[in-house]
Amino acid sequence: MLTRVARDIRNRLRMSVRRLRNRVRLDALQRERSLRVHLGCGDDRLPGFINIDYRPTAAVDVAMDLSLPRLADGSVSLAFSNAFFEHLYRPARGPHLRRIRQALAPDGACCYMGMPYFPNIARLYVERGPGTASEVFDLFNVYRYTHGDPEGQAAWWLGQLHKSLFDEEEVAALLAPSGFGAFVMFCYGYPGDVNEVPVTMGFYATCEAVARAELQRRCLSFLGQFADTRIRLATLEWLPRPAELRI
Ligand SMILES: C[S@@+](CC[C@H](N)C(=O)[O-])C[C@H]1O[C@@H](n2cnc3c(N)ncnc32)[C@H](O)[C@@H]1O
Repeated sequence: MLTRVARDIRNRLRMSVRRLRNRVRLDALQRERSLRVHLGCGDDRLPGFINIDYRPTAAVDVAMDLSLPRLADGSVSLAFSNAFFEHLYRPARGPHLRRIRQALAPDGACCYMGMPYFPNIARLYVERGPGTASEVFDLFNVYRYTHGDPEGQAAWWLGQLHKSLFDEEEVAALLAPSGFGAFVMFCYGYPGDVNEVPVTMGFYATCEAVARAELQRRCLSFLGQFADTRIRLATLEWLPRPAELRI
């Protein structure tokens, strides 16, 4: 009995210390500049980045709810995420992007990838095309993108659940009012999938207005570090920007 109470007290103390340490790190982050942040890092620790997630995994440098990131204005040179944006609640996506835009330095950039690209998911299912988890793009293949197969992460089912699907109109409609000067969008296949078909998408956005060709060049140069691990560059296709948008 006593040992159970002692264990309980020790666990509470440990949790309080962990929370306190995180608060100190969060406060220190507000004073730093030229940050490279990895948003929704999960267990994937990227060297050279501040790795952020709301689950305090071993990879995390600072734990934070990224629905509304706490990052000082102009303090970020690069914001990167992989397989994260689709986990935010839909109403949080606009405020999240506006806050990230405010946090970027004037020459800063933002690259999000690993977002489910619904036009190709739907087409491959209807056409019984090649699957990413099995030979044919059946309903389980669809489920992995529409819902994120959260049963695979029982301890944080809700966090793993996908709350959004994307296409170029949806992403452009989120980016355009968020104050970015320019952006490009792309879809691609994931290395190691049964068939590396382009069912995930991403975007690269800058604060400055930059010509499309130059932005594509910068985007490819950034993505190069993830070649054959998070993206099969040979499958990358640039997505058109909806004509009615000005930027
Ligand atoms: C599918 S995992 C991707 C992890 C990692 N980026 C990777 O590619 O392996 C999505 C991550 O987003 C995190 N996440 C979801 N909603 C979040 C939020 N509101 N704030 C911070 N992190 C969040 C989850 O905890 C999870 O680690």
